[in-house]
Amino acid sequence: MSKQINVGLVGAGWLSWQHIQGYRKLDGVKVLAICDINEALLNKIADEYNIPKRFTKYTDMLALDKLDAISVCTPNYLHVPQTIEALESGKHVICEKPLSVNAEEAEKIVKPLEKSKKVFMIAQIMRFLNESKYLKQLINKNELGKIYYAKAKYLRRHGIPGIGSWFTTKKYSGGGSLIDCGVHILDQVWWLMGCPEPVEIFGSTYAEFGPRGLRDSGFGVSRNRTASFDVEDLATGIIKFNNAATLFLEVSWALNIINEENSVSGSLFGTEGGAQLSPLRLVKYIDGYPNIIEPKISQNNVFDEEIKHFIDCIRNNKEPMATLKHAITMMKMLDGIYKSASTGKSVNLKEGQNK
Ligand SMILES: NC(=O)c1ccc[n+]([C@@H]2O[C@H](COP(=O)([O-])OP(=O)(O)OC[C@H]3O[C@@H](n4cnc5c(N)ncnc54)[C@H](O)[C@@H]3O)[C@@H](O)[C@H]2O)c1
Repeated sequence: MSKQINVGLVGAGWLSWQHIQGYRKLDGVKVLAICDINEALLNKIADEYNIPKRFTKYTDMLALDKLDAISVCTPNYLHVPQTIEALESGKHVICEKPLSVNAEEAEKIVKPLEKSKKVFMIAQIMRFLNESKYLKQLINKNELGKIYYAKAKYLRRHGIPGIGSWFTTKKYSGGGSLIDCGVHILDQVWWLMGCPEPVEIFGSTYAEFGPRGLRDSGFGVSRNRTASFDVEDLATGIIKFNNAATLFLEVSWALNIINEENSVSGSLFGTEGGAQLSPLRLVKYIDGYPNIIEPKISQNNVFDEEIKHFIDCIRNNKEPMATLKHAITMMKMLDGIYKSASTGKSVNLKEGQNK
């Protein structure tokens, strides 16, 4: 029997509940501690799940020698400092998406991670969908051929996560729909493309509903509504990669779309076949005729799978499938879209300047 792994969480909001449920399903894993500055929430979650130790100060939780790993589940601007503190205290870390509020901040984790020799994983759940994993296997077997074009969309008609909360305040979130939802679908499609290096980015952002107080979804459990709305509610982008492939991205919290069904999807177009998900569908030419194939892939709980993978990496000293390098490149793509949107020009990542 391997050693018990003791986990602590920082942040007791909606997302922490998903992580806790994942840990509780695993043998030899104990949720030992949780920390939140909101005592009412902290006590609610700690009571419900019988978590023995509760803290309102993160450094006090990190001082627990028995803790092996931390789930960082706080607002985006805290991800980098809290991850660094955890690594420096000798803990493994799984950090919620997005890694940071920008790439420059994200890079600060590189050295502390190297020094710590601990596991760091970015929580990109869409890689853990059974459909994603199945399609990745097909792509690795070259079933789609060379993928040269892809599309990623995550469109909500009415879904701003709390106008006036940290989500809609740039200094706490880093941005709006793009950094919140776009990071999911962009990561899924980019990972399926083989994580090519982005070289040129053109983007646009709009804020047509949030500033007027419209399209609030009321998501979340703990949102303090004292802050502002200074982020986007729609972002679009075109990303060109070093293998000449192009990706088109569109993501909204609020947009007058006709059909909200299938409004979250990724498409990959290759020289030998194409794929769209979710649900997964493939197009392949067989004897000169196009065949639309609909594999029946069972659904799975992505949070459980992600947490299981994190624990497996700790136990077996493995590199997670969602690494720090991936997360930093993701932040560069998001930064590129924001920068291009503000200047009206494309951003060349190789030169690090606008064209
Ligand atoms: N993977 C997903 O599908 C998914 C879904 C939702 C949220 N998220 C991510 O998870 C993170 C948390 O989101 P959420 O929806 O749970 O937000 P939330 O606002 O519901 O919860 C955040 C919690 O952090 C606490 N907090 C703030 N400052 C703190 C500090 N200094 N120390 C300790 N606790 C502090 C708040 O009191 C709050 O309870 C975000 O980064 C978000 O992007 C991911």
